[in-house]
Amino acid sequence: VTVYVPRDASALSLGAEEVAIAIAAEAELRHVDVRIVRNGSRGLYWLEPMVEVQTDKGRIAYGPVQADDVSALFDAGFLQGGEDVLALGLTEEMPWLKNQQRLTFARVGVIDPRSLDDYRAHGGYRGLASALQMGPVAMVQTVTDSGLRGRGGAAFPTGIKWKTCLDAEADRKYIVCNADEGDSGTFADRMLMEGDPFALLEGMTIAALAVGATQGYIYLRIEYPHAQRALEAAIEAARASGYLGDDICGSGKAFHLEVRMAAGAYICGEETSLLESLEGRRGQVRFKPPLPAVQGLFGKPTVINNVITLASVPIILERGATFYRDYGSGRSRGTLPLQLAGNVKRPGLVECAFGLTLRELIEDYGGGTASGRRIRAVQVGGPLGAYIPESRLDTPIDYEAFAAISGMVGHGGVVVFDDTVDMARQARFAMEFCAIESCGKCTPCRIGSTRGVEVIDRIIAGDAAERERNEVLLRDLCQTMLAGSLCALGGMAPFPVLSAIDHFHEDFEGAKT
Ligand code: NAI
Ligand code: SF4
Repeated sequence: VTVYVPRDASALSLGAEEVAIAIAAEAELRHVDVRIVRNGSRGLYWLEPMVEVQTDKGRIAYGPVQADDVSALFDAGFLQGGEDVLALGLTEEMPWLKNQQRLTFARVGVIDPRSLDDYRAHGGYRGLASALQMGPVAMVQTVTDSGLRGRGGAAFPTGIKWKTCLDAEADRKYIVCNADEGDSGTFADRMLMEGDPFALLEGMTIAALAVGATQGYIYLRIEYPHAQRALEAAIEAARASGYLGDDICGSGKAFHLEVRMAAGAYICGEETSLLESLEGRRGQVRFKPPLPAVQGLFGKPTVINNVITLASVPIILERGATFYRDYGSGRSRGTLPLQLAGNVKRPGLVECAFGLTLRELIEDYGGGTASGRRIRAVQVGGPLGAYIPESRLDTPIDYEAFAAISGMVGHGGVVVFDDTVDMARQARFAMEFCAIESCGKCTPCRIGSTRGVEVIDRIIAGDAAERERNEVLLRDLCQTMLAGSLCALGGMAPFPVLSAIDHFHEDFEGAKT
């Protein structure tokens, strides 16, 4: 009997390792033959550790399972799909999963991330096979036609970025994967790398063939040791089978890949700081232009894409641009892996076509707040994203619709707050975050964020006259940061601050009038 126990970092933090050990021990005690596969997470985090058993009818899920439950599970016949203890039914039939459109995450939680054979058995490396039949120009065109935009947050068209790099003449080019996932409430990159690392490798290999790069680096968040192990095992397996190295699948084309551990700073997720860090220097933002696609790592043309962007490429090459493009709304094409976190009953990963509303995501998938209280604010797009009030939850999740309400979809992180949240403190937190994480290169951010914290403190502590005076100052300061900062950290930190003041002004008024 095959039993799946996730090795995803979140599942591990909830006791998955102990559960796997307990299942192995119980099986030995009862003299039953059990094969334990350590899969990624299906992304139903409130049910982790979620164990699955392969039966004739399909995989049956159980959760949340603790090591202490294992003996009772065996008694209840869970190896035969027994439904008396912690059973959740057929995994694929769970509405939370069934209603999603998992393209990029199709294999996450399904396959054994350490098995290249399993990856191939589930459609892996078919995208690369199609790519090898095309020339670079056709590959780039396919990605352009698919409408794929950068999933790291900036939503820049991936095909156009690749074309800039393809057109740049150089003796050496690089592919860099930005895996320094630093936004609060986000975990899609980590889940993908832990649960389906070959998908990222395949996407990077296709990108390399498309632009003519021969070396790739995955710049991986230092706090992701499990992803590091998964990626390194996958790279070794891919190399041994000719999917990486000097002669990819007999094409005569070379592509080498290495994982580099990041420096542990939020700003190193900004692409030019990332390059500085990869080159061995302190992570400070570079001026643009030149764009990295023209002059990037070690001065050579470099494609820098986020994990999810690159991992979405294989299915586009396999199924075609139109297949991918058919999902989505407006100019936001395809699917987005959304990450539901904060005060929500059912947190986890929801991959859906663009166009789902924030309310559908939080209420239908998330089940409302964990506290059972009223939703008051939702921060979308990480610490630099605006706070969205409850009245705007019917906004569809697409890049343009969010821009229209001064918000941003970003990397798809959604953090929910109930009516006990103090939005003045959240505004202060956003400014303080910027002050702590600022790389110090430009004045509006370096000085502005520190002054911003002080001004917010004066607004919170002051009387009505002081509050009014300082609010004018704060708005002015935010405008300076928005207009004058060199990168998105200083340039976007005002968004959460201004949205808090605009939509939740009462929280800044306190008891003092
Ligand atoms: P950007 O808009 O300056 O650039 C987007 C990308 O397009 C860059 O890679 C840039 O080099 C490239 N590009 C622009 N014009 C190009 C052209 N003509 N040809 C080729 N490439 C071109 O945005 P930036 O500063 O890279 O990213 C800001 C975003 O990062 C924010 O919107 C935020 O959502 C996101 N972010 C994500 C985090 C995460 O953890 N995923 C953390 C912090 C911010
Ligand atoms: Fe550095 Fe902040 Fe300026 Fe960005 S905005 S370059 S983080 S000082």
